[in-house]
Amino acid sequence: MIIAVDGPVAAGKGTLARRIAGHYRLQYLDTGALYRAVGLKLLRDGKDPHDEEAAEHAARQVGDVALDDPALREEATGEAASIVAANQAVRAALLQYQRDFAQTPTGAVLDGRDIGTVVCPDADVKLFVTASAEVRARRRFDELAAKGIETTYDAVLKDLEARDARDQGRGTAPLKKAEDAHLLDTSKLDIEAAVTAACKIIDAA
Ligand code: CDP
Repeated sequence: MIIAVDGPVAAGKGTLARRIAGHYRLQYLDTGALYRAVGLKLLRDGKDPHDEEAAEHAARQVGDVALDDPALREEATGEAASIVAANQAVRAALLQYQRDFAQTPTGAVLDGRDIGTVVCPDADVKLFVTASAEVRARRRFDELAAKGIETTYDAVLKDLEARDARDQGRGTAPLKKAEDAHLLDTSKLDIEAAVTAACKIIDAA
């Protein structure tokens, strides 16, 4: 069984996908972490994320970066990730890793931007998780505040809208709902309610 979970910045995909994986005993891959790993490698090497050759080279070595490095979650890394994610060669270099993961015999849940459209177009269930920009910015702001990171709600909202625009506007694998994906708007749902709604969709499928 393959479950694809896509959606914009801070829609709650990660938490939801992890909970789904636990519930159905499937392996979980946060594909955003792969793009973040490429972005982080460039930042650490003092390279510009817009440098296409350096980004492709970093993507080919992505297996070397620990996907649990806390620096992956930093805002600067997210920004660099969304820049390298628009690079076609980077996406091509990461594609096979994601497809191989999806073929795990025990089944898998992958979350990202293009899982239902490009990585696993034949996934058994596709969810497109979203929420209003204001709700997502509030969640991300609270997350950062809990980590002691100083920022403002307005700065977070602006950054989120810029990242959404970049993800939706790029030529290769832009963020969009697959035609056969189930839309899950979590604007008014807490995580428990979102998990319940997702499991209902998956059970019905
Ligand atoms: O957690 P958040 O929504 O902030 O981002 P993420 O899922 O960790 O992904 C970071 C960046 O990687 C996104 O802004 C996308 O540009 C890119 N990404 C992508 O293009 N395709 C994916 N399958 C996953 C992430």
